[in-house]
Amino acid sequence: MRAMQIPSDHPLLLQIVDDLATHGWSQQNIFLPQDLTRALAAECRKRAAEGELAPAAVGRGPSSEIREGIRGDHIQWIEPGQAEVCDSYLALMDSLREALNRGLFLGLEDFESHFAMYPPGAFYLKHVDRFRDDDRRMVSAVVYLNDAWLPEQGGQLRMYLEEGAQYDVVPIGGCLVVFLSGEVPHEVLPASRERLSLTGWFRRRGNEPF
Ligand code: OGA
Ligand code: MN
Repeated sequence: MRAMQIPSDHPLLLQIVDDLATHGWSQQNIFLPQDLTRALAAECRKRAAEGELAPAAVGRGPSSEIREGIRGDHIQWIEPGQAEVCDSYLALMDSLREALNRGLFLGLEDFESHFAMYPPGAFYLKHVDRFRDDDRRMVSAVVYLNDAWLPEQGGQLRMYLEEGAQYDVVPIGGCLVVFLSGEVPHEVLPASRERLSLTGWFRRRGNEPF
């Protein structure tokens, strides 16, 4: 898979910046190229089969703990240089980071991300992505890796927007959702099939609290 760097003034990226500025979130149904989506899904399944995904914890630092009654996904953090497909994804997200910095002056310095696999029935209760004791996370970005997902299979990302409005995203392969990490409460509804994604956070510089 070739590196996926795209210019930071690509119309798709400018649209995301504009959506974030006006609404605090953006959904792009056709973001990842289909071959990259497939390759990332295969990489996620391979890691799951090799036992590399682990139950995700709630919270951060010494007080983080595994609580399946809050979130039931299995995750693995990704690092550059592990796999070419992951590097392609990271290159794309870096273009988005540049676009966000140019358009919104957010001073985003890095990006952390993990594969997530929700087994059938797993969910993630309503939460906000920014930690109480660490406000470095500015923008959340989720890409979905699921082939031919049907709305009746569940697994929606439900966002709680202004004035009591709710908005559900069906986790269809190739779709990207971006939102302000400190401002949009959201949850993942249970699904009748396995649900794969890559979730990441653009962060600004901050003082490590611990
Ligand atoms: C998360 C999260 C949303 C999704 O990992 O914090 O909210 O749709 N994920 O997978
Ligand atoms: Mn979240």
